[in-house]
Amino acid sequence: MGWPVMHSRSPLLHNYWFKRHGLAGTYVPLAIRPEGLAEALRALHPLGFAGVNLTIPHKQHAMTLVDEVDPVAIRIGAISCVVVRPDGSLTGSNNDCYGFIHNVKQAEPGWRASAGPVVVLGAGGGARAVCYGLLQEGAKKIRLVNRTLARAKGIAAELGSAIEASPWEYRHDALEGAAMAVNATSQGMSGQPALDIRLDKLPKGALAADIIYTPLETPFLAAARNRGNRTVNGLGMLLHQGRPAWKTWFGIEPEVTAELRALMEKSLVAPDN
Ligand SMILES: NC(=O)c1ccc[n+]([C@@H]2O[C@H](COP(=O)([O-])OP(=O)(O)OC[C@H]3O[C@@H](n4cnc5c(N)ncnc54)[C@H](OP(=O)(O)O)[C@@H]3O)[C@@H](O)[C@H]2O)c1
Repeated sequence: MGWPVMHSRSPLLHNYWFKRHGLAGTYVPLAIRPEGLAEALRALHPLGFAGVNLTIPHKQHAMTLVDEVDPVAIRIGAISCVVVRPDGSLTGSNNDCYGFIHNVKQAEPGWRASAGPVVVLGAGGGARAVCYGLLQEGAKKIRLVNRTLARAKGIAAELGSAIEASPWEYRHDALEGAAMAVNATSQGMSGQPALDIRLDKLPKGALAADIIYTPLETPFLAAARNRGNRTVNGLGMLLHQGRPAWKTWFGIEPEVTAELRALMEKSLVAPDN
């Protein structure tokens, strides 16, 4: 469920897994206006849905509409997934953080969150999940830089003293000595200007990650790659967040295979094919 939602690549992902696991199901995009969200969620049970994923702009509002929210989602402050239980009650969880961390681990098996300071750019819903995941993985210091400082301060206040909130002007200098830099803003997404950042202070050994996956390589990642940094794009975050969703919906843990990744990449590079 999202608004808009028809651009979503999630049906391609989940329908690949339905086929692979031989389940007689289908995953459909549901374009739900914000004012219709409560009724749409309550209709899931009579319509026979096992659950839904939620995307912009529903992740926070939906949290107030479901019957139960798991502790991770409460801490992150948003839900990305709903499970419909047999009695029709709804449970919300947040799998974005799992998706982000497992994507980085699959791409960089030797990666450690505790290797050094991590710079997170942005303080929206995605950034919250990223920060929570990094802390869970043992990050000792997160430099959280956001255009609206108050939002970064809000995350720091909620998630703890390892997060240092800084104003947007500091973004270039924040990269000094960092082990990792993550773009969790919407800047660099198709239709948006590139993230405005100078990378000269980013150590060459640092990992650069983006949570955006349209385009697969954002200008931020291209600039980092061109100067010799290793990079991780956002597609795997989308792929990996689907695994815990399937676990709760169907008791199956599907794999993020090379074939699946190639299928998704092809649809992003040539969306009309
Ligand atoms: N790969 C995945 O599975 C996945 C999952 C979640 C999100 N995403 C992607 O991540 C991006 C962010 O999503 P979100 O849900 O976190 O969105 P969001 O809650 O709307 O947050 C957007 C963030 O971008 C910042 N921003 C917007 N315009 C900016 C500008 N001109 N200059 C600097 N910063 C700017 C915002 O700063 P302010 O606070 O100042 O407004 C905020 O920090 C989207 O592109 C989304 O598609 C990907």
